[in-house]
Amino acid sequence: MKVTVVGAGNVGATCADVIAHRELANEVVLVDIKENFAEGKALDIWQTAPINLYDTRVKGSTNDYSKTANSDVVVITSGLPRKPGMSRDDLISTNAAIVKSVTENIINHSPNAIIIIVSNPLDVMTYCAYLTAKVDSRRVFGMAGILDTARYSAFLAEALDCSPKDIKAVLMGGHGDTMVPLPRYTTVGGIPVTELIEKDKLDAIIERTKKGGGEIVNLLGTSAWYAPGAAAAQMVEAIVRDQKRIFPVCAWLQGEYGLKDIYLGVPVKLGRNGIEQIIELKLNDEEKQLLAESAKAVKEVMNVLDNMNNNVTA
Ligand code: LAC
Repeated sequence: MKVTVVGAGNVGATCADVIAHRELANEVVLVDIKENFAEGKALDIWQTAPINLYDTRVKGSTNDYSKTANSDVVVITSGLPRKPGMSRDDLISTNAAIVKSVTENIINHSPNAIIIIVSNPLDVMTYCAYLTAKVDSRRVFGMAGILDTARYSAFLAEALDCSPKDIKAVLMGGHGDTMVPLPRYTTVGGIPVTELIEKDKLDAIIERTKKGGGEIVNLLGTSAWYAPGAAAAQMVEAIVRDQKRIFPVCAWLQGEYGLKDIYLGVPVKLGRNGIEQIIELKLNDEEKQLLAESAKAVKEVMNVLDNMNNNVTA
């Protein structure tokens, strides 16, 4: 298996490191536009192999996509991260141009690759890559649900003083403040979370989860990387090992949940073919309403991208 990670910034380098450490591929190629940057990061990661005892080869390349040829999976992390005071949507025009050009290069050299988008604004950058790649939508999807669910689960584990391993949760919707954590589908060691925590505490955790990315931007002055990088690597693992795991993933909807022509976070089955099934939960009225509001917010930013593209064509 060969995996390419585009963008050797904090998220991309962390993702490559986790992939190598877990031996998810024989070869990981890290690409960046900044001269020698990917080469340096890749060399540093590769030098952990004798310590961490893995044999995945990690290589770097300054924008030479021929080195990425015939990748099985490609993770795109390129783009500017948020600064304090910015929403993910503020990044749209800069990052859309970057994601478009990266996707073109990737498809030219790896026409059969499965593409995972991590760049922000996530849902719309995934749409941008899909429009550019012109391949089956089951092969182009975005990472956000695993990260947002991990944040929700980490906060719950702290509040309940329990192992994060025992928390299973589903979180749907866009990767932004309108995301929809679903307490009705959250269990701790098989026990519904609502039996273990008071409603006001759970509501506070849901609110903190929605702003989880922003909390880190405010602390660090830039966006998070350990959890986003590890979350993208977990998607790579499900694909290359054909695990058929159920994860929330930003997927192209064609009527599921009553939504059409939109990229939005929903639970899917992830395996060697990419998205092998979109799972439709029976949401109650309140959950449906929250998902509709999230879809509306994502659609507005998708329309901004469509208008930018139309203006370029015109
Ligand atoms: C976050 C960024 C990566 O949520 O979107 O931390």
